[in-house]
Amino acid sequence: MCGIVGYLGPKQAAPILLDGLRRLEYRGYDSAGLAVRDGAGDPVVVRAKGRLRILAEKTNGGDALPGNIGIGHTRWATHGEPSEANAHPHISLDASVVGVHNGIIENYQELREKLINNGYTYYSQTDTEVAVNLVDYYLKKYKVGPIDALAKTMVRVRGTYALAVMFRDFPGEIYAARKDSPLIIGQGENEMFLASDVPAILDRTRDVYYMGNLEMARVRQDGVTFFDLNGDAVPKPLTHIEWDAAAAEKGEFEHFMMKEIHEQPRAVSDTLHSFLRGGQEEAGIDLSDIGLPDERLKEFDSVLFVACGSAYHVGMIGQYVLEDLAGIPVRVELASEFRYRNLPVLPKTLCVVISQSGETADSLAALREAKARGLTTLGIVNVIGSSIARESDHVMHTLAGPEIAVATTKAFSAQLIACYILSIAMGRARGNLTDGAASQLTKELCALPGKIERSLEDKERIQWFATKFSGHRDAFFIGRGLDYVACMEGSLKMKEISYVHSEAYAAGELKHGTISLIEEGTLVVCVMTQSELFPKTLSNAMEVQSRGGYLMGLTSYGNYSLEDTADFVVYTPKTDPHFTVSLSIIPLQLMAYYVAVAKGVDIDKPRNLAKSVTVE
Ligand code: F6R
Repeated sequence: MCGIVGYLGPKQAAPILLDGLRRLEYRGYDSAGLAVRDGAGDPVVVRAKGRLRILAEKTNGGDALPGNIGIGHTRWATHGEPSEANAHPHISLDASVVGVHNGIIENYQELREKLINNGYTYYSQTDTEVAVNLVDYYLKKYKVGPIDALAKTMVRVRGTYALAVMFRDFPGEIYAARKDSPLIIGQGENEMFLASDVPAILDRTRDVYYMGNLEMARVRQDGVTFFDLNGDAVPKPLTHIEWDAAAAEKGEFEHFMMKEIHEQPRAVSDTLHSFLRGGQEEAGIDLSDIGLPDERLKEFDSVLFVACGSAYHVGMIGQYVLEDLAGIPVRVELASEFRYRNLPVLPKTLCVVISQSGETADSLAALREAKARGLTTLGIVNVIGSSIARESDHVMHTLAGPEIAVATTKAFSAQLIACYILSIAMGRARGNLTDGAASQLTKELCALPGKIERSLEDKERIQWFATKFSGHRDAFFIGRGLDYVACMEGSLKMKEISYVHSEAYAAGELKHGTISLIEEGTLVVCVMTQSELFPKTLSNAMEVQSRGGYLMGLTSYGNYSLEDTADFVVYTPKTDPHFTVSLSIIPLQLMAYYVAVAKGVDIDKPRNLAKSVTVE
């Protein structure tokens, strides 16, 4: 959701900025812009509505903009429609300050009026233009330098922001400020970068600083200094990113989503092994490295999962598995609901916040709310150095690598593994699982990457089926227990990337109303991997079929009787019943992907969606 890049160095800035923005496209955007300055000259600003290609055409791939310092931005509209005037960078009234911004300034209306009373006028509808003018206002009113003007602005504004700003009277410098929206500073050889996310600069440097909340930075070609709100310098470690630029490229695949679907065995295996003592299957699970040894785990008397979207589905699966393996009461809440709800929680609750990006505004707010209520927090996070990773008491990092496609696949699978591991560790710590049972389950986990690999082998058949059904307007996904949650995730994938309306239903609920929607040819995907529930769900499948529904069955190898009922059956390898979603989700991801391919839509960047949802 919005992307920022910045560059200072010996090279021409604009092509580098455009390239960085291209790598941030996955975050979602509707317009883009650049501000580049040549030495002490005034910044030249170019903006364009629509795809980056248009901005690139306007600037001849950046070549038309001389200068080796600049900032760039992709905008995802919040205040004001997508238009050239609303695109960033924004310029203050007399062009002293030029800035780009991610996030939302909540009190921008009030600030806008205050500044109008002080003679400011506006050309856009954005909160960012207000923020840039406010910096200018403080600069002039108090006759202070950029850091003081930014600090005063930060104290005055409410909301979230990552700001990158250039000041006319301070050539050779870019300033940054951050609250809740991510911003990193990359250090190259005699050159520096700013970016919302690592992939934007990964092919140029792997050494980055993560800006902290309510911090500012002054970036020069030879380095960066960080400041707190008092203007005091803040020391900060340089982090070396382990994954390389190839991890953020499509390689042989047509879309990032397909590449990431295929990276799931690796993501699962890497995540799993990072929680095995010494990386060894036989040595068992050990969470003491993240401060949760068995003695600590047994102190909790309930667990609360909080997350959004697909991560929320992971929380639901975590609930089923944790309750069963650890015998502990578990709740799952949507982060956007939890934060505004007075949910009674027991003091010894472990609050688990699941987030790929670690920056989702609602999940971050829920984490803070949980901490304010005195709960111990555990983040299950993919992006190292993200806000949720930094603010959680304990962190389980999923090792999925960079996930670029908007629709999550490999991060989802890695999050599942983290939940399984937590469940086994808690089950053992609470005496609910014997050591033997825990190691049997761990062994089964270690077999999952190979089984996911096998599930991927069936993709041609799924493609055939998906293409056949790509013209359908509706689809239903039904299942019971964990299969129901797989349906919810499969249905979300279908909706978000292929724009097919779909609903996930607990199979037993169908006849309480929804079955009235089933008519001749309605596509119903029936997930039946839980052997205990198989006969029950099969009856529901028959009910659907007798009303004309076209039935796709998804079950484990061995349940061949389904062929007698379903019109098309997909099989996944057998595993422990707690872990079936890790396998059943693969055909569902493929199904959504191939429907989207057949419809010819933008798979990696579905309309209206953003990768990292940093606004409420
Ligand atoms: C769906 C999807 C979203 C995210 C949700 C939370 O494919 O990707 O539903 O799961 O926006 O994002 P994170 O995990 O970054 O907090």
